[in-house]
Amino acid sequence: EKITLSVIKADVGSISGHVMPHPDQLAAATKVLAEAKQKGLLIDFHVTHVGDDIQLIMTHRKGVDAPEIHELAWNAFKAAAKVARELKLYAAGQDLLSDAFSGNVRGLGPGVAEIEMVERKAEPVITFHADKTEPGAFNLPIFRIFADPFNTAGLVIDPRMHDGFIFEVYDVFEGKSVKLSAPEEMYDILALIGTPGRYVVRRVYRKSDNLQAAVVSVERLNLIAGKYVGKDDPVAIVRAQHGLPAAGEVLEAFSFPHLVAGWMRGSHHGPLIPVPQRYAKVTRFDGPPRVMALGWNIAKGKLIGPVDLFDDVAFDETRRLAVQIAEYMRRHGPFMPHRLGPEEMEYTTLPAVLEKLKDRFVKTEEVHVIRRHSELLSGTSEEEQK
Ligand code: 13P
Ligand code: 13P
Ligand code: MG
Ligand code: MG
Ligand code: MG
Repeated sequence: EKITLSVIKADVGSISGHVMPHPDQLAAATKVLAEAKQKGLLIDFHVTHVGDDIQLIMTHRKGVDAPEIHELAWNAFKAAAKVARELKLYAAGQDLLSDAFSGNVRGLGPGVAEIEMVERKAEPVITFHADKTEPGAFNLPIFRIFADPFNTAGLVIDPRMHDGFIFEVYDVFEGKSVKLSAPEEMYDILALIGTPGRYVVRRVYRKSDNLQAAVVSVERLNLIAGKYVGKDDPVAIVRAQHGLPAAGEVLEAFSFPHLVAGWMRGSHHGPLIPVPQRYAKVTRFDGPPRVMALGWNIAKGKLIGPVDLFDDVAFDETRRLAVQIAEYMRRHGPFMPHRLGPEEMEYTTLPAVLEKLKDRFVKTEEVHVIRRHSELLSGTSEEEQK
C-alpha cells in the first residue's frame, strides 16, 4: 500500500515584519487539518513554521498533486490569512497569489514537496524547511548528500548505493527538466545547478531500483507573479537509511553554511544557517537565511516525531561561522556580491529606481561601447541597419 508525504508551505502574514507567524495562525491551520484527519482524508499531520512561513506536513493515501489535499492546504492557509487580517499582521495573505483555488496549489504561491512511497521496513525521513531563500538553496547540500563521497561515506561503502543516483534538474525559467546520472554525469549536473536561481534539483532517485529519495519545492514566486512578492522559502523531503544516505550523512551536508540568495527584500546573498525550532524566527536584516530539519519515521502513514535535528552542539560551529559570514557580507552594504546581480534584481523594486535615472544620462565619447553580440554576428550595428 502506498502512502504520500506532502509538505506544503506558505507565508500568509507575520508579526512585526517578516519574522514569524502568530500562534493563532498556526492554530487556525491546525484546526482545518484536524477536521480533515477526523474525516479520514489525512492519516496524520503536523503544523509548524520556519521564519514567517507556515509548514503543513501531511500524510495521506491520495498520491501527489491530489486536488483534495491541495485544496485542504489552500483552505488551511486561507484560515491562517484570515487570522492575519483580523490581527492586522504584516503582509496578510502574502503568498496566496490567486483569489480562487483551481485544483492544484502549484502556481498559486504555496511551495510543494511530495513523495508517494511504499513504506520500507523502517521509513526514516527528514523534512527541511527554509526561510529567506529560494529553492536553488538546496542544490549544494542535495548534491553533496547524493553525489559527494567526501560527504556521504555510503556512496563508497554501501553496495546498495554504490551505483549512484539520478538527479532530475528543472530549468525554472524555461519550464523544462533533465535527468542526469551521478557519478558519470557529475560535471554536467554541476554545470547546471551551480546557477541555483535558474536550475533547481527537483527530485533524486536511487539508480539501482529507481526509488525516489528526495524532492524539493521549485516554486519561484517572482516568476509566477512577475514582480517581487517575497522570497520563495523552499521545503524539501529526504528519505534516509536502508541503502540511502544515513540521516547523519543527510545532515552533514548542512554543516557548511553556504551562501544563498534571499535575506533582506529577497535581494541579498547570505549564509544558510541550520537552526533548531527555537531559532526559527528571522531578525537581523530580516534573516540571515535559515533552514530547520525535522526527523520522522513513518509508520503506516503515522508521523512519528519530529526530532529537532539541528538542535545539537555539533552544529554550533556552523552557526558561529555563519554569523561571521553574515557580518562580513553585511559590511558590503548595497554592493554586489552581497546585493544580488541585475538578473535577479529585475524582479525587485530596483528597476523602478533605475527607470527614473534613465533620462538623466548623456552620451560620452570617453568610453568605447562594446557592440552587442547580435550586431557582431550580423556584422552591422543597429544604427547601420536603420
Ligand atoms: P548504529 O550501530 O548506531 O545503528 O549505527 C549504524 C550506522 O550505520 C550509522 O551510520
Ligand atoms: P519573506 O519571503 O520571508 O516574506 O521575505 C520577504 C522579505 O522581503 C524579507 O525582507
Ligand atoms: Mg513574509
Ligand atoms: Mg518567508
Ligand atoms: Mg517568502
